[in-house]
Amino acid sequence: MEKINGAIKNKDVKAEELKNFIGEEVTIHGSIYKIRKMSGFSFVILRTGAGTVQCIYAQEYLKEDTKEIKEEMCVRLKAYVAEEERSRAGYELRITGVTVLSEPFAEMPVVINNKRVDASLETILDFRPLTLRNTAEMAIFKIQSKITEGFREYFKEKEFTEIHSPKIVSEGAEGGANIFRLDYFGRNAFLAQSPQFYKQMMTGVFERVYEIGPVFRAEKHDTSRHLNEYTSVDAEMGYIESFYDIMNFEAGMLRHVFEKLKNECSDEIKAVQLQQKNNKGTFFEGLVMPDEIPVIKFSHAKELIERKFGRKITDYDDFEPEEEKLLCDYMTENEGSEFVFVTHYPSKKRPFYAMESKENPAETLSFDLLYRGLEITTGGQRIHSYEEQTKKMQRLGMDTELFKSYLLMHKYGMPPHGGFGLGLERLTARILNLPNVRSACAFPRDTKRCEP
Ligand code: 4AD
Repeated sequence: MEKINGAIKNKDVKAEELKNFIGEEVTIHGSIYKIRKMSGFSFVILRTGAGTVQCIYAQEYLKEDTKEIKEEMCVRLKAYVAEEERSRAGYELRITGVTVLSEPFAEMPVVINNKRVDASLETILDFRPLTLRNTAEMAIFKIQSKITEGFREYFKEKEFTEIHSPKIVSEGAEGGANIFRLDYFGRNAFLAQSPQFYKQMMTGVFERVYEIGPVFRAEKHDTSRHLNEYTSVDAEMGYIESFYDIMNFEAGMLRHVFEKLKNECSDEIKAVQLQQKNNKGTFFEGLVMPDEIPVIKFSHAKELIERKFGRKITDYDDFEPEEEKLLCDYMTENEGSEFVFVTHYPSKKRPFYAMESKENPAETLSFDLLYRGLEITTGGQRIHSYEEQTKKMQRLGMDTELFKSYLLMHKYGMPPHGGFGLGLERLTARILNLPNVRSACAFPRDTKRCEP
């Protein structure tokens, strides 16, 4: 009987290893991305999981009879790796044999093999399984994967434990009406708006925890920054001295990710740049974390916007999107930072678990991080005392009975703690200058879209 022992039998070379095989014949698999017919030969671009490879398909190199190749065929190629100065990689593959593994049934409904998919965002999203094969679209999600890889590296270095919290819950963590209801065996249940309660509980266990997972918001907003399901990067840490510890941690984490993208994603960043017709190529220079991210109190930020931009402030409790933009513009110009931490948000606008300032209970010990005109993170210190938490809930008219299981941790002792939630799609979109957050989500869910 044959036994599976974990050995991978496939001897195909990976695209990134090809430079080690110059002068040799290899086998490699992938999809035929593009065929450009020349006189007497064709340039063939092979798309692999690790990027594209330039190949030459010419009768003079073929050693065996092969079927005619077509775009989007999945193939295993035999090829000679030849040094070639004119190719960007410094080599090209001269195809010596082709095994066709599968053939497309129909013609592509959209052109995917140019520098960009020249179609509306709606069309791009309608045909997502196909348009994601475009090298620039693919690059966005490779970069996003590197961002989360970088987060995980940093969390590990700082001794955080990864957790997995339930997405079906009995109470909303963030309050408000933006919660999806579902029928849970005849009872009411909800889709989690945030892992907030669970990451706090797990802080009582592991001190430092994180989760990267989906959260659900039933917001009816149809804007370029809202999704109804997004990926939240959540962290929570115990034994903090103040919420500034959390801000420091987040700044370090983002710095690590920016360095990583610069070192590991240059091809992908170039591909996204080429996609944006008008981009002048400032991504690398743009991926800058200042030594210190400027910090401003919410009330001071409001005053500053009023004073510097002559804007009439109508809402003193929250930012309007335009105000976030103006504040970021101001910080970029005057402080040389595209990031800004805004602290001490009004208690009125923060959830019940937010700790209030002892000096001024109308303010919370909380912060938002704005980047390139958009809020990408909300965080802060949480109430850890049982008495303080139950009193605040009663003051807000909440039924503490409904939160009995949440309050168990407070009742039986919790360390001072706090954390943050960062929207992965918003961060990706801002890093890459994508105007719509949907472009940074492989399969976005919005008020009108639930497929593919
Ligand atoms: O500000 P939010 O709602 O805060 C929380 O969820 C808290 N539990 C976080 C904490 O630990 N205190 O969401 C946090 C972040 C926002 O800053 C934003 O980046 C993103 O999540 N976000 C959205 N992204 C896309 N679409 C939406 N509808 C989003 N709502 C929030």
